[in-house]
Amino acid sequence: MSNNLLAGKKGIIFGALDDKSIATKVAERCVAEGAQIVLTNAPVAMRFGEIQKLGEQLNAPVIPADATSLEDLEKLVQDSMKALNGKIDFVLHSIGMSLNVRKKREYTDLNYDWMQKTFDISAISFHKVMQTLWKMDAMSDWGSILALTYIAAQRTFPDYNEMAESKALLESFARSFGYHFGERNKVRVNTISQSPTKTTAGSGVKGFDEFFDYADKMSPLGNAPADACADYCVLLFSDFTRMVTMQNLYHDGGFSNMGMSPKILDM
Ligand SMILES: NC(=O)c1ccc[n+]([C@@H]2O[C@H](COP(=O)([O-])OP(=O)(O)OC[C@H]3O[C@@H](n4cnc5c(N)ncnc54)[C@H](O)[C@@H]3O)[C@@H](O)[C@H]2O)c1
Repeated sequence: MSNNLLAGKKGIIFGALDDKSIATKVAERCVAEGAQIVLTNAPVAMRFGEIQKLGEQLNAPVIPADATSLEDLEKLVQDSMKALNGKIDFVLHSIGMSLNVRKKREYTDLNYDWMQKTFDISAISFHKVMQTLWKMDAMSDWGSILALTYIAAQRTFPDYNEMAESKALLESFARSFGYHFGERNKVRVNTISQSPTKTTAGSGVKGFDEFFDYADKMSPLGNAPADACADYCVLLFSDFTRMVTMQNLYHDGGFSNMGMSPKILDM
C-alpha cells in the first residue's frame, strides 16, 4: 500500500547490504512512497553484489563511500545531488560495526585501537555525514536526517559490548547537530531505537537468538520487524513529522517501558 508520502522527495540511504538489512527495507518503502533515492555503502560491500541488484530494482544509482572518509562523503554528496537533480530531503544512516564484537573480545579486555575504529564507523561517521551535508549546503529546508540506534545506549546489555558507547555517542550527535541544522535549515535530526532484528550486524552479537526471543516476550507488541521500522522511517522523512527533532524515538513494541513480563517468568 502506498500513500505517496514522499512524492517529489530525494534521499540518500546508507547501509543496505543484503535483503535482511534494515536499510534495504527502508529503501524499498521510500521508493514505493514516491521518493527518488541514491544507495550507498562501503566499497567492500559492493563485492557481494546485492546492493547493485537493489539499485536496479529501485532505479537508484549506487555510489560507493566509506562513511569514515570525508573525501568519499564529499564525492557522494556531490554525485547524489547531480543524480537526483537537486538538494537532499532525507538521509538514513544505517551503519554499525564493532571490531571487538567481531573478534569476540570481552568488554573487560577491549582492544582500544579497535574501539576507536568502532566509534569511527558506527558513530563519528554520522557526524561526518552531517558535517559534509552542512558544509556543502546540501540539505533542503525542512529536510530530515535519521540514524538507527539501540537501547543499550541507556541500559546495560552486557553482550552489546562497546557498541553501547557507540550508540550513546551517535544519539548525542543527533541532538547536538539537530540544534545547528534546525536553526539554519529547519532540518530535523533524530535517532530510531529499534528492536533486535535478524540482520548481519544484529546476528554478530553474542547470544543474539536467545536475546531476540527474550525481547520478543518482554514487548507487549513483540519485537518490531524491519518492515515496520521502514514504515516509521518513511513517516519521519515525510512532512507529517516536521516539528520532531533532536529525539531518540523507541520503535520496540513497548520493550523500553517494561519492567517484567509474566511471559518471561513462565520461561
Ligand atoms: N539488527 C539489530 O538488531 C539492530 C537493532 C537496533 C539498531 N540496529 C542498527 O541498525 C543499523 C543497520 O544495521 P542492520 O541490522 O541492518 O545490519 P547490516 O549489517 O545489514 O547493516 C550494517 C551496514 O553498515 C555498513 N557499513 C559498515 N562499515 C561501513 C563503512 N565504513 N562505511 C559505510 N557503511 C558501512 C555495512 O556494509 C552494512 O550495510 C546499524 O546502525 C545497527 O546498529 C540494528
